[in-house]
Amino acid sequence: MRTFTTIQSLQEWRKSLPKGKTLGVVPTMGALHLGHASLLETSARENDFTLATIFINPTQFNQSSDFEKYPKTFEADLAMCEKYGADAVFAPKDANEIYPDHFQYRVSEHQFSNELCGEFRPGHFEGVLTVVLKLLNLAKADHAYFGEKDHQQLTLISGMAKAFFLETKIIPCPTVREDSGLALSSRNLRLSAAEKEIAPRLYQVISTILDVIQAKEELTRLGFRVEYLIDKPETTGRRRYVAAWLGDVRLIDNVRI
Ligand code: PAF
Repeated sequence: MRTFTTIQSLQEWRKSLPKGKTLGVVPTMGALHLGHASLLETSARENDFTLATIFINPTQFNQSSDFEKYPKTFEADLAMCEKYGADAVFAPKDANEIYPDHFQYRVSEHQFSNELCGEFRPGHFEGVLTVVLKLLNLAKADHAYFGEKDHQQLTLISGMAKAFFLETKIIPCPTVREDSGLALSSRNLRLSAAEKEIAPRLYQVISTILDVIQAKEELTRLGFRVEYLIDKPETTGRRRYVAAWLGDVRLIDNVRI
């Protein structure tokens, strides 16, 4: 497995890949877990080559403390990429590599990005969409893999790819859960032992208590601080989105109901 820290070395590798072979890209911020492993495995199965990117994107953190606390497990991440089928990893060392424009140019969306997580994390999706567009432009991949756990992010990235006629196809991948139901997330690493006991109740409550008010009350009783719990219609059926805090860890999840 090759590791690149500069755009130039990534682009040289990209150009060296044989014509007619497919490339899948798995964008990540590191702190990889089995959810990322399933994205890598899917990409490796569906493509001739797989590129993982590891970049803790500063522009998507609306609080600098959240950015600073983001778990950093780089050596373990590289081992995980190799184990689950990546041929190369792009891990820029410095934000200037990705933002030579100092974030002067940005991608924004003016509807769904202001709802749910966007309402509570102003600017978050502008940072996400901007970095993803940059990474997709660099990777020139046939397919890009994103988890359904971040369903709002996935929807906005798919919308951006369509709006800007990107040639990379966005592939949604199912949320990976512990046996308890807890959705795998890099943020779970920051839960205390006691919080880890309570955390699985988030999924259990949102998937079993259909009344929104009752579900919120139950989560509050269990010790969560609910940021939002909202049901939204989809083409068929509805999806329920939740964000809730346990101590200083913010968990998100979503289910079809
Ligand atoms: O989901 C993530 O890890 C990040 O938001 C992403 C898509 C890698 C962009 O930084």
